[in-house]
Amino acid sequence: MCGIVGYLGKRKAYPVLINGLKRLEYRGYDSAGVAMINDQGQLNVYKTKGKVSDLEAYASDKDLTGTVGIAHTRWATHGEPNSVNAHPHFSASGNLAIIHNGIIENYAVLKKQLMEKGVEFKSNTDTEVLIQLIEYIQTSKHTDLLTAVRMALHTVIGAYAIAVLDRNNPDQIIAARKSSPLVVGIGEDEFFLGSDASPIIEYTKKVIYLDDKDIAIIRRGEDVKIVDFYNEELKHDVTEVALDLAQIEKGGYPHFMLKEINEQPDCLMDCMSGRVNVDVNNVVLSAVIDHRQRLVDARRFIIVACGTSWHAGLIGKQLIEDICHVPCEVEYASEFRYRNPVINSTDVVIAISQSGETADTLAAVELAKQKGAFIYGICNAIGSSIPRATHTGSYIHVGPEIGVASTKAFTGQVTVLTMLALALGKERGTIDQQKYVNLLHELHDIPEKMKTLLQQCTDNIHEIAKIFTYARNFLYLGRGYNYPVALEGALKLKEISYIHAEGYPAAEMKHGPIALIDEEMPVVVVATKNVLYEKVLSNIQEIKARHARVIALVNEGDETIKRMADAVIELPQTQECLEPLLATIPLQLMAYFIAVCKGKDVDQPRNLAKSVTVE
Ligand code: F6R
Repeated sequence: MCGIVGYLGKRKAYPVLINGLKRLEYRGYDSAGVAMINDQGQLNVYKTKGKVSDLEAYASDKDLTGTVGIAHTRWATHGEPNSVNAHPHFSASGNLAIIHNGIIENYAVLKKQLMEKGVEFKSNTDTEVLIQLIEYIQTSKHTDLLTAVRMALHTVIGAYAIAVLDRNNPDQIIAARKSSPLVVGIGEDEFFLGSDASPIIEYTKKVIYLDDKDIAIIRRGEDVKIVDFYNEELKHDVTEVALDLAQIEKGGYPHFMLKEINEQPDCLMDCMSGRVNVDVNNVVLSAVIDHRQRLVDARRFIIVACGTSWHAGLIGKQLIEDICHVPCEVEYASEFRYRNPVINSTDVVIAISQSGETADTLAAVELAKQKGAFIYGICNAIGSSIPRATHTGSYIHVGPEIGVASTKAFTGQVTVLTMLALALGKERGTIDQQKYVNLLHELHDIPEKMKTLLQQCTDNIHEIAKIFTYARNFLYLGRGYNYPVALEGALKLKEISYIHAEGYPAAEMKHGPIALIDEEMPVVVVATKNVLYEKVLSNIQEIKARHARVIALVNEGDETIKRMADAVIELPQTQECLEPLLATIPLQLMAYFIAVCKGKDVDQPRNLAKSVTVE
């Protein structure tokens, strides 16, 4: 849940490290730090509470020389976010510095053992325990740094991506990973490290994605060497990253979130490109072709995911049951992994994750695999841990999502789930040809409709946001395919504006939440003209009878609801199962504008991080 960067080469390390941290700030931003070996061979560490910009201000008058260094932007797990607990951490002698993303679960036991041996600690972090352990092994067993790192990693339990710098060996960085991502970039006589490829791509496109239990030895003038914990050398392919800089910059928008909301029509076109073919009326997913029989024979689908990806999963369940006529369950990955779920070899588990690194989802995948299920990943980050742990899958191809609140990943996930349901429904013979053709044409037209919607609704929603900025609570209601939309709208609002918001299936309102409704509680109702329209209409009447203000999402030209609601957002007409792809857009915009009106940090909301690589 932190971002780590490293550099060893011919350039000044500091600008590379700071730029890299800015690219990784989405992963955590409560403190930041950098360690560099300067031109005189001293190991300098500068760290501070706050964001990378605070670190830059703090370091501006310091010695920033040196061509090797490591840097970190943190999302606190152990120890409050302050400059003492910020990374890098030193070993007792001050010779070693470490940065770490992850959690050392047995740190308390190890700390106690080290303290009994006289080691003193400066911070409350699990990370300091690791570097002290490495140094303790190095000095007590008279080993080199690599051996000490290997031995320490045999001892620790947990998740980590680490990089270690040694003052006595200024031409080397040792890095390792287990359950936290780490990428090595290979340039001309220079090397980079990053939690993902974004800090690396402006210098080189050549990267090695480290696997679990890999240790990378990066030495000036040598090729990168990768060994396992037993020092056996491993061979890894060098991958060419297909990411360019424009994709990870704001492109004129004030926030990444607004850029990413507006990118959705193009993202969905990319997501469908080569997959939805209207000329020959076909939806093709290579995973469905490659694993046709396994998927056709599936007796049950189980979707595991967290947060927004779980909401996409709820839509996936309805699509799979409606179109493929096969039972589908949706589980929070965090619950699934700690139950003893009954899994059969005829089950297919679909893991949905934007980052591909969410610790709970990854653990759920491992558990389901052990129990014999076939695992299908739906992820965004190419080469991340979940796609590598699954049997097959489909990337959503929406490009890097930097804003912490997920937007384009959600619509990308729903689009892939729709294509999967269509491709599989056809193979299973559970969808008739006319419905299949209609749906694939409608799906193909969604980006155009989304573009029009964005043009038509943005100003209206900005005005609505100004009116409702001061509300303290919100209720979001929807039914059928729009129930997950209500959940997602509420989640977006609470995470970036810090307004309390609840999503409910509209009919559940009577079973409790109606008690909350009064003139102080705005209610957002997704009320499109589908089979449940009349029922949602009665819900609106019940809400109005209690004097609450209603913001309704309706189909174009719905005069009935226009007369009843306080604010109306019109959506283009589409097939019911595709409505979430359109209805989500105004709710993302509403959350965005309310948060902006409240002066909140939209892209980096408090207490959150983009990639939750710890439990
Ligand atoms: C909400 C949000 C989170 C993520 C969740 C899962 O805007 O971004 O709820 O959806 O942490 O993350 P991934 O999809 O990376 O597994």
